[in-house]
Amino acid sequence: MEQLRAKHLAAIADADDEAALEAVRLAALGKKGEVSLLMRELGRMSPEERQTAGPALNALKDEVNAALAARKAALGDAALAERLAAEWLDVTLPPRPRLAGTIHPISQVTEEVATIFAAMGFGVKEGPQIEDDWHNFDALNIPPEHPSRTEMDTFYMAPKADGTRHVLRTHTSPVQIRGMLEEGAPCRFICPGRVYRSDYDQTHTPMFHQVEGLAIDRAISMANLKWVLEEFCRAFFEVEGVELRFRASHFPFTEPSAEVDIRCSWTGGVLKIGEGDDWLEILGSGMIHPKVLRAGGIDPDQWQGFAFGMGIDRIAMLKYGIPDLRAFFDSDLRWLRHYGFSALEGPSAHAGLTR
Ligand code: DAH
Repeated sequence: MEQLRAKHLAAIADADDEAALEAVRLAALGKKGEVSLLMRELGRMSPEERQTAGPALNALKDEVNAALAARKAALGDAALAERLAAEWLDVTLPPRPRLAGTIHPISQVTEEVATIFAAMGFGVKEGPQIEDDWHNFDALNIPPEHPSRTEMDTFYMAPKADGTRHVLRTHTSPVQIRGMLEEGAPCRFICPGRVYRSDYDQTHTPMFHQVEGLAIDRAISMANLKWVLEEFCRAFFEVEGVELRFRASHFPFTEPSAEVDIRCSWTGGVLKIGEGDDWLEILGSGMIHPKVLRAGGIDPDQWQGFAFGMGIDRIAMLKYGIPDLRAFFDSDLRWLRHYGFSALEGPSAHAGLTR
């Protein structure tokens, strides 16, 4: 028994993986293991012999089992330690530029826009991309029979049991309503985000981005709207002589309404902002319609405000000279490396928009 004990404990200590350990277990305690065979002989012993051999054999079996368990745990710890050492990674190291990802121009421009409007006291709000009919249309003074419902090429969700259908929001304007209901008057915020319309060509993709903006107070006028937008364009395009043109227009949710164009030149296929004889439309705007204020829980006899909606993709293409909108969403690494921005140098009011 003493010999068996020494032999198996040594074999356990020598086992250096789980398979070797299992072989030792079978050799000692398996059906035909040496300890098991000895135990089977107990039946043939005299009662006196059995009285001493029985407990001794049981103790041997327990000791071997305990040694097996301890060795197994030690092997597991060693394997884990080895893996931890091999897979060690210093996450505080700066990324190597060629390996690091880049910030997508849409994300960069959204940050730039938020930075500029934050400096003018605007907060940032977000709303759901799957929107209900009321927020996307009715609350914005677009009744069911209004032609702009069909003009917007809306994507509809499957109807619910009660017959109502949600839509993929066709613009960021529904966030105006959500923001007004949340904040009450006075308020001032922008709402950037994804919007959806069934449309596809060089300047249209089924998913694109807008930023909505609004300011509500007791005496806000079109003059404030004009100043804010001019201030924004000067800061965003980083060009001193930016010139805007306000053109009378129509939107159901504003009265009066204006579309805004920016002066630019196209020479040799290169677009320049702030000079030349061409005009490029960048946004829609106006004074918020009293019905829209009321839908947002704000009393139009006490408060008034302006709103605007701008295409983020459009101003990103203009500022960074990106000719095809569809490439924005192709996830082509070469395109991302070329047009992407450093992840470590986001825009800020003090250090500048792009570095
Ligand atoms: N929602 C309009 C669109 O998607 C853009 C717009 C126009 C937003 C005028 C406004 C606004 O807030 O006042 O075409």
